[in-house]
Amino acid sequence: MIKKGLELREFLEIEGGHNLSGTIEVSGAKNAALPNMAATILTEEEVILENLPMLLDVFTMKDLLRFIGFEIQKKDTGVYIFKQNTVNSLVAPYDLVSKMRASILVLGPMLSRFKYAKVALPGGCSIGTRPVDLHLKALEKMGAHIKVEHGYIIARAYNGLKGAEINFEKITVTGTENIMMAAVLAEGQTIINNAAKEPEVVDLAKMLKKMGADIQGEGTSRIIINGVKKLKGTNHKIIPDRIEAGTFAVLSALFDGNIIIKNYPNQYLKYVNKVFRKIGIHIIPIGENEVIVRREKNLRPVSIQTKEYPFFPTDLQAQFMTLLSIVKGVSKITENIFENRFMHVPELKRLGADIKVENRTAFIKGVKKLTGAEVKATDLRASAAMVLAGLIAEGKTRIYDIYHLDRGYENIDIKLKNLGAKIYRGVVEKEI
Ligand code: UD1
Repeated sequence: MIKKGLELREFLEIEGGHNLSGTIEVSGAKNAALPNMAATILTEEEVILENLPMLLDVFTMKDLLRFIGFEIQKKDTGVYIFKQNTVNSLVAPYDLVSKMRASILVLGPMLSRFKYAKVALPGGCSIGTRPVDLHLKALEKMGAHIKVEHGYIIARAYNGLKGAEINFEKITVTGTENIMMAAVLAEGQTIINNAAKEPEVVDLAKMLKKMGADIQGEGTSRIIINGVKKLKGTNHKIIPDRIEAGTFAVLSALFDGNIIIKNYPNQYLKYVNKVFRKIGIHIIPIGENEVIVRREKNLRPVSIQTKEYPFFPTDLQAQFMTLLSIVKGVSKITENIFENRFMHVPELKRLGADIKVENRTAFIKGVKKLTGAEVKATDLRASAAMVLAGLIAEGKTRIYDIYHLDRGYENIDIKLKNLGAKIYRGVVEKEI
């Protein structure tokens, strides 16, 4: 029984330094699964999604769709049928949105299909303020009336959304996806300039086209959408997760390449593979979608700038920092996308890393080894960086607040155990 004033705090404990080997498989992409699930709102017909990763964020999106009135059935492992039965509610409530910012992805499709949507305002998050102003401005340009009151975005388009030319001041991934989903059922043509080019945006466009949407230019910075009256059901397989794949490649590099990575989406990781090569790490295809990682004897420090696709993803920055923390010399990582995404630095320092941060740049001076300590997971990707660090650190590392990790990595502890990692989950009581 938990005593009053206490709550349970889950942790992962890792005994570092054991060599890992074997095969590890990349799951479906979280950042493709979420928009594609939101897109099922655009039709009353059945949509089957395959290769859905079993992650907390995917569960939150399922809860959100059920709240709206969807029936979701499991057909097979990772295969789910989405069917809107009734319309219970056109509200995305705070308790779900606060668990996951990507809940904002239901705004575009809900407004476009039902002409009304009420979505809790995603608050700030650990990696920065992350506003949704660009989503809202674009929807207003398409004729929506938007009010923000009592913590909710209330959007109405009783006469339907109208096509418009949208010029995003900043590249936004979920913003591009939201507007694409709003535009497919809008009247007339929508042009999105300065659109995000991420593979997940392209995957969403692919699914929407199978549903009957008229979209051109996905994967470039100008997407043109001609609205259609209705969309139909479809069957769609989610692409592999390039961020999970990149995380596993770092893992493999740390263990000198005794790991085979299955479903490695090489085509989405060209830039990342180039950065690996500069460090002295080579990603070698050994079969269809399978790679092994080989590393040179002496690794080299490197300078990395995070930037929108096709460049280096902000979502791999923390994991590379773990790797660079044991590469001799001084490496530099500059974070250009989010203003506060170095919260893993103090945690890595607890493990013995030598890192200094000046403004948006971290200077990482390689040390000989890391040593186990108690740390916390500060956000999703930072938690992966902690796991990687714990696996190479001498002694035991205990990582608290691992719900962050479960938001985006499917069965990570099981996948790592299968490679021989000494890793287990536990809980402690914490005062509140
Ligand atoms: C998506 C990804 C996330 C990744 C990020 C950047 C999903 C579900 N999440 O997040 O994993 O880290 O892209 O690659 O796909 N911005 C504004 N106003 C807006 C929208 C964004 O100022 O209305 C700013 C953000 O604060 C940030 C930058 O634009 O500085 C890029 O953010 P964005 O691409 O929108 O990130 P997400 O789509 O939330």
